[in-house]
Amino acid sequence: MIPEKDKKRAELAAEITERIRPFVPSTDGYQKILTEAMAYSVFNGGKRLRPMLMLLTYRALGGAAAEEKTLVDPFMAAIEMIHCYSLVHDDLPAMDNDRYRRGNLTTHAKYGHALGILAGDGLLNAAFEAALAAEEPDGSGRRIIAALRILAEKAGAFGMVGGQTVDVEKTGQPMSEEELTFVYRLKTGALLMSAMQIGAVLAGASKEVVDACGEIAERVGLAFQIQDDILDVAGTMKELGKAIGSDEKNHKTTYVTLHGMRESRETEENLSEEALAILAGLPGGEAKEPLAELIASLVGRTV
Ligand code: IPE
Ligand code: IPE
Ligand code: MG
Ligand code: MG
Ligand code: MG
Repeated sequence: MIPEKDKKRAELAAEITERIRPFVPSTDGYQKILTEAMAYSVFNGGKRLRPMLMLLTYRALGGAAAEEKTLVDPFMAAIEMIHCYSLVHDDLPAMDNDRYRRGNLTTHAKYGHALGILAGDGLLNAAFEAALAAEEPDGSGRRIIAALRILAEKAGAFGMVGGQTVDVEKTGQPMSEEELTFVYRLKTGALLMSAMQIGAVLAGASKEVVDACGEIAERVGLAFQIQDDILDVAGTMKELGKAIGSDEKNHKTTYVTLHGMRESRETEENLSEEALAILAGLPGGEAKEPLAELIASLVGRTV
């Protein structure tokens, strides 16, 4: 039987999918195949973790329900489109060279390499178009601009793309603990941080609280990537929807190759507990519960 909490989370993921749908472009024009490949890359499954973290952070910090649709939905679409683009490019032959994602063929395996590259490019731009469609009730655009700054920075050379660069550059070579942590902070942690900090900024949180959300997300991001590495060894393709053994195939240094399974699991648990302790110290009561539950659920996940 599926536990009630998992069911609620799956329902929220489905709701988020519908809320971001209007922001994913489509066309009957000559470039139709591009928007088809873009939509495929977004709607072929996925846990919607980043928009979910954004929404639950917004709610945890007292964001107004009435503003969710005009202010948060555009940014949820933006972060998920950036995440999906990162996956499409990550799977390309020049990077991890993987053929399955979310239980389906990867975008390049279905549409060809060129469209894999172009669909990623298109999604990155569509993400910023979506975010720019956000509206702030007082018309100032102050929170929107602050959120856009986070979105742009965390996706780029000092965020996800920077981490992916070191990840591929170091493929087949040993990596130090410090280098590996750098890669995880950036390639995975940066988008999770972006998600939570944007949720906080849109809710109107203080700088201290936005910073604390960064501290939480940093730990969640490291723990999340460690579990991703564990699943690459100990998961199943059926549950994960992507081939296991990708890291071994590519001779990657991972937390598991450096520290082994048991220590990896322990570190993951410790990081998650630290994240939850920081969250517990933030203002707000019951409203923080769904966010805390989501963070706790990521430890030892099988998907
Ligand atoms: C996979 O992310 C890539 C990593 C950063 C480890 P997710 O595990 O969130 O992938 P989806 O969105 O659910 O497919
Ligand atoms: C991916 O790390 C991080 C991204 C920015 C996409 P991985 O290469 O381990 O992600 P999976 O295992 O392919 O999802
Ligand atoms: Mg990779
Ligand atoms: Mg990969
Ligand atoms: Mg992986």
